[in-house]
Amino acid sequence: MTDSRASDASTSSTDARPLLAGVMGWPVAHSKSPLIFAHWFAETGIAGSYTRLPARPEDFAEALRALPEAGFRGVNVTIPHKLAALERADEASDAARAIGAANTLRFDADGRILADNTDGYGFIENLREGAPNWTPAAGPALVLGAGGAARAVIHALLEAGAPTIRLANRTRARAEALAAHFGSRIEPVDWAARAAAIGGAATSFNTTSLGMTGNPVLELPLDDAPATALVTDIVYAPLETPLLAAARARGLATVDGLGMLLHQARPGFRAWFGVDPTVTPALRRAVLAVQP
Ligand code: ATR
Repeated sequence: MTDSRASDASTSSTDARPLLAGVMGWPVAHSKSPLIFAHWFAETGIAGSYTRLPARPEDFAEALRALPEAGFRGVNVTIPHKLAALERADEASDAARAIGAANTLRFDADGRILADNTDGYGFIENLREGAPNWTPAAGPALVLGAGGAARAVIHALLEAGAPTIRLANRTRARAEALAAHFGSRIEPVDWAARAAAIGGAATSFNTTSLGMTGNPVLELPLDDAPATALVTDIVYAPLETPLLAAARARGLATVDGLGMLLHQARPGFRAWFGVDPTVTPALRRAVLAVQP
């Protein structure tokens, strides 16, 4: 695997392949990506097709290999294939390699697989849209959670200039592993000390699944949060999580997690179909309309 700026190359207008892409996962029935792409096809007038591609883990490599030959321009990859997607790629972007996983694959005309990870991009674009005055460099960030989503968020925050990232995870060893991977700007924090760690934190992000409908609530007292703090949540069902509701009640700036999902899809659309699509209130409504 060699270095490449996999997401930068846009589709050539002379590309004769069908306007075909999809999402690989297992299961993949609940993926929102087909809805997002259908909305953008209708909005841009591009007569593309974006399909769900269920693939068991043991079938992933073979299924992936078949897609360029079947005329696909690329695919999104979701759980549980994000690590395997990076391993199977011929080239990978800096983001995919730093995060250690891929969610967006582009196939070139020779069938080579170019991997990118757009989760961190989606995360930052969501905050720039939802909190235009937000400056990542303004102070330390607090990140809760140390799973795959946290890796993308941490990478994006470091790139965006966050001076330090306090990383609180229930299992401290996972936070320490990420500190070893991402370097000395990551400061592992005990899960029990998370409320104190919000003191002086310019930005606080939940990347755990706590607060999602059906899951326990994230307990995070906000008493020590600076009045200028921005609070955001990767969870978007419900759209206003208990964490965001508590932050809003204290007068803190908040951004919900739906935009991250929507913005992370843009680079794939651009790479495969040659147009940078927009995230609009109508797209948000279309996606929310089918939420469980
Ligand atoms: P993802 O790749 O989507 O981030 P993950 O790798 O399963 O998913 O990570 C889920 C995160 O939520 C982890 O940080 C997890 O903490 P652990 O590393 O200790 O497992 C966190 N999480 C899940 N349930 C939790 C709970 N009840 N209390 C605290 N943290 C929890």
